[in-house]
Amino acid sequence: MDELHPLIRRAREVALRAYAPYSNFRVGAVVTDSSGAFYVGCNVESASYGLSMCAERSAIFAAVAGGAARPLTALALSCIDATNGATPCGACRQVMFEHLAADAPIHVDGVGQFTPPDLLPYAFELNAGATIARTPGVEDEW
Ligand code: THU
Repeated sequence: MDELHPLIRRAREVALRAYAPYSNFRVGAVVTDSSGAFYVGCNVESASYGLSMCAERSAIFAAVAGGAARPLTALALSCIDATNGATPCGACRQVMFEHLAADAPIHVDGVGQFTPPDLLPYAFELNAGATIARTPGVEDEW
C-alpha cells in the first residue's frame, strides 16, 4: 500500500479541530506556498447553518491573510468522517481555481490527486472588460 502523503496526514490532524456539531462531518485542509510555508483550515459550522465555512476555503483564506506567496502550490483535504472520502464542494473548487497554480496538486484523502482545472473545468473568471454581443431589441422582449 502507498505511504500516506505528509500533507494528507497533516490535513487529518487539522480535521480533529473541526467545529461540526450539526453535521458531525469533520474536514481538515492544508495549503502550501512556494516558500514552504503551510496554512491550515477546518470546517467551522454555525447554528445558522448557511453561515458555516468549509475547511478548504478556511485554509486558503488563512494563507492569504498570513501573507502566503501566490499562487499556492498544493492543497490536501481530509474528511475523516466520510466512508469513502469526499471531494471538495463547488464553492471551494472555484476558490481553489483562483488561488492555486493551475498544475498544483490537490490531494484528496481516500480519493486521489487532482489539479484545479480537473476539479473545475470552465471555472468562472472575472473579465469585466469583455462584452458579449447582444441581439438588438432582445431586451425589449424580457
Ligand atoms: N465541508 C467542507 O468543509 N468542505 C467541503 O468541500 C464540503 C463540505 C463541510 C461543510 C459542513 O461543515 C460539513 O462539511 C457538511 O457539509
